[in-house]
Amino acid sequence: MISIGTHDLTADPAGIAYAADLLRQGLLVAFPTETVYGLGGDARNGQAVAGIYEAKGRPSFNPLIAHVASVQAARRFVEWSDMAQQLADAFWPGPLTLVLPLRDGHRISSLVTAGLDTLAVRVPAHPAARLLLAEFDGPVAAPSANPSGQISPTTADHVRAGLGGRIAAILDDGPCGVGLESTIVGLAGEPALLRPGGVALEQIEDVLKTRLHLHQSGDLLTAPGQLQSHYAPDAPVRLNAGVRQGDEVLLGFGSVDCDLNLSSTGDLSEAAANLFAALHTLNKTGRPIAVSPIPDHGLGAAINDRLRRAAAPRDS
Ligand code: TXA
Ligand code: MG
Repeated sequence: MISIGTHDLTADPAGIAYAADLLRQGLLVAFPTETVYGLGGDARNGQAVAGIYEAKGRPSFNPLIAHVASVQAARRFVEWSDMAQQLADAFWPGPLTLVLPLRDGHRISSLVTAGLDTLAVRVPAHPAARLLLAEFDGPVAAPSANPSGQISPTTADHVRAGLGGRIAAILDDGPCGVGLESTIVGLAGEPALLRPGGVALEQIEDVLKTRLHLHQSGDLLTAPGQLQSHYAPDAPVRLNAGVRQGDEVLLGFGSVDCDLNLSSTGDLSEAAANLFAALHTLNKTGRPIAVSPIPDHGLGAAINDRLRRAAAPRDS
């Protein structure tokens, strides 16, 4: 890849227009969503999508989410269904991704789907993302805008630290509100939870009036990106910690004595929004990280999923 300077763009009309233009040229733009910052490229342009994998150092078997402006836009690419409509009515725009069968004549690069016959689609809620998608008027493939395996970015600074110099631009519109990636629901077969995330499982089951299949990581049906070690800080991470041991810094939850608190009032939404920024901050201390127990219901399930991966044994 040619080494390029990374433009800093703001989410005003000129910045949005410039970002959409870069996407049209097949270049890569990091942009805010309500979950995390995404690294966007034109999902129909194989070279652009190859550039995403290259910039992130991402294993190419791991498919990407196509971001679109509306249900109508999503339906150009996937076979729609009643369940998809129910979930879209309830949660789009928002932190939910649906995996559906690809439609004939879809024009999505096979690098986006990693050769699968399904596509992950999402309509994000963040105003800057919506403006960009409307202006670009096409599907934007976007993984989280971090080097593969590292902590996800919830600010433009996180993106710059990880990918600066390797992408054309960063559209900065402040910190992300939800702070955890979207929940992924598979609807190509029996409805299944492929990744816990910003919409709680309980809410999805309420809408569908059915239980979702839950897949353990390592299961073939799990979202293929669910590699064991992920979201990983440099230092070791110890979960369900009561008190600090040795040199540890403690990431707390609720009323505990700690170095940094995800939510001193024990609010899971607040904890989700703070999670990745807290890991970025504690990572800089260079000390091992201990984390207080987090309740496993609602958004807590997604927080614990990310923490388990942050704590998992590393390959290297
Ligand atoms: O909130 C989010 O979802 C963020 C923002 C930027 O939208 N994006 C994000 O993308 O988290 P990424 O690439 O980090 O995670 C996408 C996940 C991966 O685990 C991948 O395996 C799964 O989606 N996925 C993509 N296409 C799939 C498919 N056809 N079937 C099953 N899983 C799929
Ligand atoms: Mg990611």
